[in-house]
Amino acid sequence: MTITFRHKLTFIYSFVTLSLLLVFASAVYFSFRNSLVSDIDGLLLAEARIAAAEGIADGSSGEIEKVMIKKTGNEYVQVSNIRGDISITSLRSGTLSWPIKLPLIEKAFNGVYSFDTVSFRGEPYRILHFPVDKSRILRLGYSLQKVDAELRELRKLFFSLLPFILITVVVFGYNIAGRTILPVVRLTETADKIKKGDLKERIQLDYPGLEIRNLVRVFNDMLDSIQRHVEGHKRFTSDVSHEIRSPLTALKGSIEVTLRRRRKPEEYEEVLKKNLFEVNRLHKISDNLLLLARADHDIIELRNSWVDINELLGLIVERHRNKILEKSLSVMEEYQEPLEFLCDRDLLDEALSNLFDNALKYTPDNGTITVKTEQSFNGITVSFHDTGPGIPERDRERVFERFYRVDKTRSRLSGGSGLGLAITKWIIETHGGSISVKNHDDGGAIFTITLPVDDA
Ligand SMILES: Nc1ncnc2c1ncn2[C@@H]1O[C@H](COP(=O)(O)OP(=O)(O)OP(=O)(O)O)[C@@H](O)[C@H]1O
Ligand SMILES: [Mg+2]
Repeated sequence: MTITFRHKLTFIYSFVTLSLLLVFASAVYFSFRNSLVSDIDGLLLAEARIAAAEGIADGSSGEIEKVMIKKTGNEYVQVSNIRGDISITSLRSGTLSWPIKLPLIEKAFNGVYSFDTVSFRGEPYRILHFPVDKSRILRLGYSLQKVDAELRELRKLFFSLLPFILITVVVFGYNIAGRTILPVVRLTETADKIKKGDLKERIQLDYPGLEIRNLVRVFNDMLDSIQRHVEGHKRFTSDVSHEIRSPLTALKGSIEVTLRRRRKPEEYEEVLKKNLFEVNRLHKISDNLLLLARADHDIIELRNSWVDINELLGLIVERHRNKILEKSLSVMEEYQEPLEFLCDRDLLDEALSNLFDNALKYTPDNGTITVKTEQSFNGITVSFHDTGPGIPERDRERVFERFYRVDKTRSRLSGGSGLGLAITKWIIETHGGSISVKNHDDGGAIFTITLPVDDA
């Protein structure tokens, strides 16, 4: 049998309870015995005082002994001198005597009475040594047989109850131990269910005791966080497969349809162009996923150098010149000079490009995009303000999540996969900065990055 913690607790509980019970029973037993003996002592003393007061005759004859028995009211009487020689005795034959203890006899001759317990012919006696006069002491005895019998009964009662007490204590202890470790059992059961995949399981909080409640609370909090992570991971995995499947299905479909019959070169060209769009999308998704996976595993090494933020922003705007013209957008660049930041240039380029790309993508034709830089006591701030639809308040936190898009169809049509802001946020935070978004009064979105100048 495996020894469990419950068994150990039961053993400790039973051992302590039984030990206390034994100590208590012994105390009761001995104090009961003492009280019985002291009753006898009192009786003997009273009898001796009466006999001494009435006077004790000299000599040794059956008559005198009878008188003594009558006087003392006790059938065990002896009168002896200082040497222990007996002059009067009621003990059946005249030569018999209780065991003599000279020190006690001497003590009585010195005027101090004392008690003794002796065994005589297999029977226990309580004996009082009482001073009578200069040459004699009185020894009065009382058989302790009855007292012994009573104590024996008490012991018997205790030992006959012992198995019952033992069973009760062990059963009770086992029960209490069970209740004490119930939260641990629940923890184990819950952990087991979770192991089998039921992440919604929680332990009830209504256990008495602060320590247990804290343990349960910490465990449940841990489960909340695991559940969030696992669900996020599941969502991410299903999003990844969905994002990859859609362009692949589109590619497969268009290739299959195209191959059904012979076509003119212009038709092939058009299909290839469409397919290139999907391939580019797939390429971008796989690049972005790879970057995020490396970021998650902390295997991106920053190659830091001093970067002129304004110059970098100017280059980004320039790179997007065609798109700006295509949509007839106005781009306002309001830079505060000079702004140098120690960072990984490629990564910062990626982050700022994502924000500018979003502004371009989500701003309708003829709109305006304002790119602004500023140095404040917080650090360097870079903001992108567009005249697009903005971001509804309920989506503002979530747009930084992987694959999250406010308007799924629209952003997919524009080639977006919903990873840009997640990557941007990671890059900015890796450089010790922060990113936030709000809507301008005119409705457009304002994304603001703050980069710390000191700890970069
Ligand atoms: N300037 C903006 N105006 C309005 N909505 C925006 C803007 N920037 C981002 N969003 C919303 O936030 C979502 C997430 O943006 P994110 O850059 O992560 O993905 P995406 O642009 O759709 O795809 P990707 O950047 O991966 O090509 C977008 O789909 C869009 O709904
Ligand atoms: Mg984007």
